[in-house]
Amino acid sequence: MNEVVDDPEICLCFHVHRRKLVNWIRIERPQRAAQLSDCFGAGTGCGWCRSYLEKLFLAAQDEAVSLPEIPDSENYRSQRQDYLREKRRETGPGENSLEKSS
Ligand code: FES
Repeated sequence: MNEVVDDPEICLCFHVHRRKLVNWIRIERPQRAAQLSDCFGAGTGCGWCRSYLEKLFLAAQDEAVSLPEIPDSENYRSQRQDYLREKRRETGPGENSLEKSS
């Protein structure tokens, strides 16, 4: 299935796309990046997307900051898998928050 190129999925855990986040920020005007979790739970799963959420938040605060560059969908997913493997290695089997929450 083709993903809309100009609206990448940022939070892969909760399937939250960039357009949804940008519109949510514009309407809700959050004071902290962590408040983006109120947008369909973005960032509250594995944590992989939090750096992108932070960048989206910062871009919304300052017009001089451009929207973050998102790797193509395949690379983004692959990098998340590496992140999850590293996280499992650090926490050990059964300690992953994803396994507990799903
Ligand atoms: S990709 Fe967003 S919390 Fe996992």
